[in-house]
Amino acid sequence: PIPVILDVDTGVDDACAVILASRHPDLDLRAVTCVGGNAPLRDVVRNTLTVLEACGRGDVPVGAGASHPLLERPVDARHVHGDDGMADLGWPAPTMTADPRHAVDLLRDRIEEGHAAGDPVTLVPLAPMTNIALLARMYPGSFARLGRIVFMGGGAMVSNATAAAEFNVFHDPEATAVVLDASADHDVPVTMYGLDVFYEPRVTLADAEVLAALDDRGPGALAAGLVRFMSHRFGADSATIGDAGAVAVVIDPGAVRTERLPVRVELAGTWTRGRTIVDTRDWSGDLDHDPHGLAHAQVDVALETDGPRIARLWL
Ligand code: BDR
Ligand code: CA
Repeated sequence: PIPVILDVDTGVDDACAVILASRHPDLDLRAVTCVGGNAPLRDVVRNTLTVLEACGRGDVPVGAGASHPLLERPVDARHVHGDDGMADLGWPAPTMTADPRHAVDLLRDRIEEGHAAGDPVTLVPLAPMTNIALLARMYPGSFARLGRIVFMGGGAMVSNATAAAEFNVFHDPEATAVVLDASADHDVPVTMYGLDVFYEPRVTLADAEVLAALDDRGPGALAAGLVRFMSHRFGADSATIGDAGAVAVVIDPGAVRTERLPVRVELAGTWTRGRTIVDTRDWSGDLDHDPHGLAHAQVDVALETDGPRIARLWL
């Protein structure tokens, strides 16, 4: 199995991602780290513990990380994800507790363990990248030992938090810029699973019926509650599994078509702060044609996906 660490702001679709990563036989979930985003950090940690407990994965350490973005004030998305950040399902509080290590130290330890065993970790950030930027600055040697980063964030053509920007990047643009620059400096391959593909994998209310029948307070019942909540929230008979799609493409890379393109983060625009600028010009990767000499990361940007294939994998 592929060793993975998820960085999350659980979050209905982050919960879908944790369910997949903790239960799929092709993945070895080494840790989950938490950051403030969809909900305040303490809610994110509780929600993440709840999911892992429902999945019978009390062995997976959960690290609490940054409560605030590097520069901005936190802006949550509870209007989308519910008052508790995870669909207000009324599940009992988890008995598991968080790891005593800060998320950044937990990341460092797990990355070093993977490196020492010759089995480098794939990092899957599904939230504002504050923790990952701190890792890159505090422990650049450990950052460099990542096998790969597959992150949910940004978009070449599609946005949601503002007319220009996707939520995770908008929440902490500087952090995303730091991570992309560090990945270029240290040759860590990056895949961007952004909004161009994010909404495609969908699960129906009929699928939720099947999931609900699997167990009582286990991953099936939880997954059913999440799908029903998001479907009802948007008045639809199906919901996107969102962040879980980024985990799915670690398992099944053929489910997305990617192109290697330069990606930069807009840090200054009046109306465009937090936008990922994906350079799709024919000559975009050619440094000779980059007269401004701006540093840029080459990112495998997901531009198309087979939504039903990813949804089936998740189910
Ligand atoms: C991203 O923002 C969050 O609300 C979701 O969990 C996802 O990671 C989508 O823009
Ligand atoms: Ca998320």
